Amino acid sequence: MKRDFVDLSSISIAEGHALLNLASWLKSDVKNQLEHPYLRGRTLAMLFQKPSLRTRITFEAGMAQLGGHAMYLGPTEVGIGERESIKDVARNLSRWVDLIMIRTFAHETCLELAREASVPVINGLTDLLHPCQLMADLLTLKEHRGDLDRLRVAFVGDGFNLAHSWIEAADLFGLELRLGCPAGYEPDKSFAPRVKRAGVLITNDPKEAVSGADAVYTDTWTSMGQEREAARRRRDFRAFQVNRELLKHAKPNALVMHCLPAHRGEEITDEVLDGPNSVVLDEAENRLHVQKAIMLWLLKPEVLERWTDRAAPRK
Ligand code: CP
Ligand code: NVA
Repeated sequence: MKRDFVDLSSISIAEGHALLNLASWLKSDVKNQLEHPYLRGRTLAMLFQKPSLRTRITFEAGMAQLGGHAMYLGPTEVGIGERESIKDVARNLSRWVDLIMIRTFAHETCLELAREASVPVINGLTDLLHPCQLMADLLTLKEHRGDLDRLRVAFVGDGFNLAHSWIEAADLFGLELRLGCPAGYEPDKSFAPRVKRAGVLITNDPKEAVSGADAVYTDTWTSMGQEREAARRRRDFRAFQVNRELLKHAKPNALVMHCLPAHRGEEITDEVLDGPNSVVLDEAENRLHVQKAIMLWLLKPEVLERWTDRAAPRK
C-alpha cells in the first residue's frame, strides 16, 4: 500500500525518528559533496496554489540532488478543483509522475488528492498543517539541543497551520509545548484530543507561554489567504511580538525559531530574528534535507528501514 506524507499524526514515532536520522545522514553527505542518486529517473509534480520560496526551491533542489526531476505547476496552470476536478488531476498525474507535492488552502484538497492518486502525496502546506516545516524544525532542535523529548517549546502567535503541526509534533515526539495565542486565535477545536494527550498548555498570555522555554517559535500574524484581515490582525496580535522583552521570560540563550517568511517588525523584531540565538536559517536549510528523507522514504521505504533501529524511541 502506498504511503503519503500529509500530517505527522499518521507516522509512527519510530518513522519520525528514522526520518530525522536519515535527513541528518543526507545532510552530512551534501556537506561532504557525496552524491546519492537514489531517485534517478524519478519525477515529482509540485502543485502550488499559494506562493513559496523555501518549499519550491528545497523540493526542486532536493529531487535534483537525489538524481530525479521536479516540475513546478503554479496557481494559474492546473486549476485544481476548478479547471479540472481533484480526482482527475490525481489520476492523470499518477500516470506520469512518481510523486506529488501540493501546497493549497483547504486540507481536504490535499487529502482528496492523496485518496485519488495512486502515487504518494506530500503536504507542502495547507491551512491546517505544515508537516514538512515541522520536520525541518525538529531536526534543527535536535542539532542544537539534542533530545527532543526533554525540550520545552513555546509557540507564540496564530493557532493556525504551524501551531497545529506543533501540536502533532508534541504528541508524536513527547515535546513540552506551550502555545500563546490571542483570544479568538486559538488552535482549531479538532486538535483538542491531541492537545490533551500531549499536555499542551494554551494561554492568552505570551509571557506565560514563553516562561522557561528552550525555544521560542513564531509565525506570521497574517497567513497566505488572510491578507484582507491584516489590519485587524496587527491590532489583535500586538502583545504577541517576539522581542527582547518577551525573551527575558524564556531560558537564557533560548533558541529563536520562525518558519519564514518573517514580517520584520510585526511578529518578530529585527534584532531577535538576526540575533545570536536565531536558528531560522538552519530551519530553512533543513527543509532540503528532511524533504529528501521524506521523498526517499515514500519511494524507497527500504532506505528508511536501515535507519529505524537506530531511531528506536526512548519512551
Ligand atoms: N516556510 C515556508 O514554507 O516557506 P515558503 O512559504 O517560502 O515555502
Ligand atoms: N502560516 C503561514 C506559514 C508560511 C510558511 C502561512 O500559512 O502563510
